[in-house]
Amino acid sequence: MEEVKKKRLYSAVQPTNALTIGNYIGAIRNMVALQEEYDCIYAIANMHAITVRQVPAELRKNTLAVLALYMACGLDPAKCTLYIQSHVPCHAELAWVLNTFTYVGEMERMTQFKDKSAKHADNINMGLMDYPVLMAADILLYKADVVPVGIDQRQHLEICRDIAQRFNNVYSPTFVVPEGIYPKIGAKICDLLDPSKKMSKSAENPAGTVFMNDDRDTVIRKFRRAVTDSQSEVRYDPENKPGVSNLLSVYTAFSGKSMQEAEREFAGSGYGDFKLAVGETVADKLAPVQSEQARLLADKQYLESVLRAGAERAGGIAASTLSKVYRKIGFYQL
Ligand code: TYM
Repeated sequence: MEEVKKKRLYSAVQPTNALTIGNYIGAIRNMVALQEEYDCIYAIANMHAITVRQVPAELRKNTLAVLALYMACGLDPAKCTLYIQSHVPCHAELAWVLNTFTYVGEMERMTQFKDKSAKHADNINMGLMDYPVLMAADILLYKADVVPVGIDQRQHLEICRDIAQRFNNVYSPTFVVPEGIYPKIGAKICDLLDPSKKMSKSAENPAGTVFMNDDRDTVIRKFRRAVTDSQSEVRYDPENKPGVSNLLSVYTAFSGKSMQEAEREFAGSGYGDFKLAVGETVADKLAPVQSEQARLLADKQYLESVLRAGAERAGGIAASTLSKVYRKIGFYQL
């Protein structure tokens, strides 16, 4: 029987700081779950990372650490393409073309641009504003049908769709207009100390953020201190019980249980016991991931072979799309 061609899936993570359980729950978990069903291409977005000043040695180290974490979480280089964004020059080249299909006003209105501009007022660089266009180039180069991300990336995905449609309308259909895939639960994991805020790598107080490389004691301590509410009922109700609901989302993601099962399990428990159980579950799950990541990081040669193969495959697909774009817009090609 003829093999049915799999749909294409694309996603990426920035190699800035250590990743958080928000990155895992909102994105990486889905990236792993979908690798059988789709033709998956996963990047390490180091070109996005430099829109905020990085320490070069740290950026280099974090880049390999993200690759090792991807694999330790279950991404299999035999099933999906793993590569570093800057290894495929087509990203920057397509971003330049897409810039001419993007309006300054719409970039200025992007929530993440406004947030990051406020946070890095001394460095509101063009790259920071252009960030969504580079992200659109990432996705459109690979003609991705779907893009699994957390909810904070929804606005960027919407603008990517707009840019693709604009281009397709001016020329003939060229780009696939991608759909976002957002987890039903866990699309926005919140800060443990302030459940009104997204859990972030760069939070002012790291006690509200659980990092994928936090040790067991640190994980449990952070969950013990998590903000809940003045009631005593463990129930999923994000509007009225944001702290408890956030903890339940983390718990279901790490335990594999459904929300109903989790609510039933903690019916009648005090918040102290509940928070401890969540912390222990997360710590138990992180330990083997951390040791596998360390094992992989010790074999740099193998990791580099994965990256070489990844860049080669990604580069081939990207070059073919870019060449088509260049032809359509009238660039003279030899
Ligand atoms: P980044 O590196 O900020 O985050 C990586 C992924 O993690 C998700 N995420 C969260 N999900 C739930 N709760 C949270 N607290 C949380 N924090 C982060 C993000 O939504 C994301 O899916 N621009 C992207 C990287 C990127 C990309 C792309 C993604 C570059 N090019 C092309 C998809 C397609 C970013 O900054 O992700």
